[in-house]
Amino acid sequence: MKSVMFKVASAVVVFLALLPGAVLAKDSIVLGFSQVGAESEWRTANTQSIKEAATQEGITLKFSDAQQKQENQIKAIRSFIAQRVNVIAFSPVVETGWEPVLREAKAARIPVILTDRAVSVKDESLWLSFLGSDFVEEGRRAAKWLVSYPPIQELAAKGEVNIVELQGTVGSAPAIDRKKGFEEVLKEQPKFKIIRSQTGDFTRAKGKEVMEAFLKAEGKKINVLYAHNDDMAIGAIQAIEEAGLKPGKDVVIVSIDAVKGAFEAMIAGKLNCTVECNPQLGPQLMRLVKDVVAGKQVPRRIVTQESVFPQESAAREFPNRKY
Ligand code: AHR
Repeated sequence: MKSVMFKVASAVVVFLALLPGAVLAKDSIVLGFSQVGAESEWRTANTQSIKEAATQEGITLKFSDAQQKQENQIKAIRSFIAQRVNVIAFSPVVETGWEPVLREAKAARIPVILTDRAVSVKDESLWLSFLGSDFVEEGRRAAKWLVSYPPIQELAAKGEVNIVELQGTVGSAPAIDRKKGFEEVLKEQPKFKIIRSQTGDFTRAKGKEVMEAFLKAEGKKINVLYAHNDDMAIGAIQAIEEAGLKPGKDVVIVSIDAVKGAFEAMIAGKLNCTVECNPQLGPQLMRLVKDVVAGKQVPRRIVTQESVFPQESAAREFPNRKY
């Protein structure tokens, strides 16, 4: 009799464990997370936030680094599906090309949360919630700061303002949206011209390389650098110095992220402004995961709160920076 009861109980446990999204104990949630890579200071802070928050919340994290390759993210998501994790979260390297794998996740009834970056899919039911920044607004903020910066206003009063742009990874949501937001504001400013625009893939090395090419082609004609992230701006600062120019003076620089490296560059007078993009998404993500597993309704979109830091605020703000 005892052994029959034991068998029945075991069968029930196995059956429950096989139910998609099933969680038998409070601390047994399994989250599969596919990260873009380790391309920037921002990304390192984001990874750290996710890992720390998972540990703190007792969530088992299966973490996979895609090294900035979509095919690696697709492989990781497929492996999370095969392992029947409770929730899949990922920060998509690019916006498009996700339908097939997300359909597989949906068929396996595993909820998908987007963090940091969005996807572009026709079937919006393929993901449940999106937690991250408003990248279009970040682009707008960079442009609004630029057009109201007194030395640039003086320049615009005399003639044209020539801007070079270092874009993020081609096809990624932040590269598309930050360009869009920036151009939206500049549309109203006929004196402001983007004379060169190219990807620097969100890395310091590429930012430097592309800035060198911009300087070779345009030289002293360049008045402004708009970089889609701080890392590319920091790489470009090196290129500007090597070209015998003063970053922050001869070339006014505005970038996005507000990582510590940007504050150091601002304190040194080499960067003029950084627009914040908050990487500390871990705690909010873990809360979302718990709510999803508990069957609660979760918001479709959670937008991170962010600020703008001009050079004059850098020394004051630096001690408060967490990333
Ligand atoms: O998706 C966020 C962006 O990706 C950050 O601005 C950039 O630094 C990172 O690589």
